[in-house]
Amino acid sequence: MAGACMKIAIIGAGNVGSALARALARAGHAITLGVRDSAAVTALSAETGAQVLAPAEAALAAEVVVLSLPWGAAEGVARSLGQLGGRIVIDCMNPLVRTDGRLALDRGHTTSGAETLAGWLTGARLVKTLNQVGAEVMERNDRMAHRPAMFMAGDDAGAKATVSGLLADLGFEPFDAGDLVQARILEPMALVWINQALVRGKGRNWAFAALPNP
Ligand SMILES: NC(=O)c1ccc[n+]([C@@H]2O[C@H](COP(=O)([O-])OP(=O)(O)OC[C@H]3O[C@@H](n4cnc5c(N)ncnc54)[C@H](OP(=O)(O)O)[C@@H]3O)[C@@H](O)[C@H]2O)c1
Repeated sequence: MAGACMKIAIIGAGNVGSALARALARAGHAITLGVRDSAAVTALSAETGAQVLAPAEAALAAEVVVLSLPWGAAEGVARSLGQLGGRIVIDCMNPLVRTDGRLALDRGHTTSGAETLAGWLTGARLVKTLNQVGAEVMERNDRMAHRPAMFMAGDDAGAKATVSGLLADLGFEPFDAGDLVQARILEPMALVWINQALVRGKGRNWAFAALPNP
């Protein structure tokens, strides 16, 4: 682990939440799972040593809160977290909708999922990231030919410095894309990934990388 052990709450323990719980626990961080059904995460909790709490309690117990929920559940859960007291919140979510049989974003040019989420949270230092690749690559990428890139956007430089360390712990090369408004360019990257992975047949085990041309 590059940085100190952090207390990280993961709200929503599906594909992304469980992948991040495993990888961040392996990197030495203390995980709390914030879930509505504790029985569903018994095995994950045992595997990662994670504490299991309701979402709002998990957030209060943590320094960093990861939101890995379906977009449709995000508003209700985000509002239920209450005053976050300056905690860092990582938004992994993509505002996906199915339009004419295709996956698309339900907003993007004049706002983003992350900017919308910011309006549902109180006292959060919000960082958009970990939305650009599949959960498998978040969980394990040490056998990839190149270090995968991961972009982040947020308004708080201190929060981005902390998140940058966590991205490095997860094996990514972190890139600062700028303020939270830049989530508008990071959320479409998820559609590029999904299109290649699931529509064009590339499969799920690949990621974007930044290759220098010396
Ligand atoms: N899958 C990927 O590879 C991937 C990659 C990048 C970004 N993302 C984004 O990450 C987010 C999560 O995706 P996912 O694939 O991990 O979804 P998922 O497997 O469906 O997991 C979602 C989790 O959220 C929980 N949840 C749903 N409603 C809840 C509520 N009201 N209160 C508390 N927990 C609730 C579910 O718990 P229950 O079991 O109780 O329903 C489940 O554990 C999405 O926004 C997606 O766009 C996904």
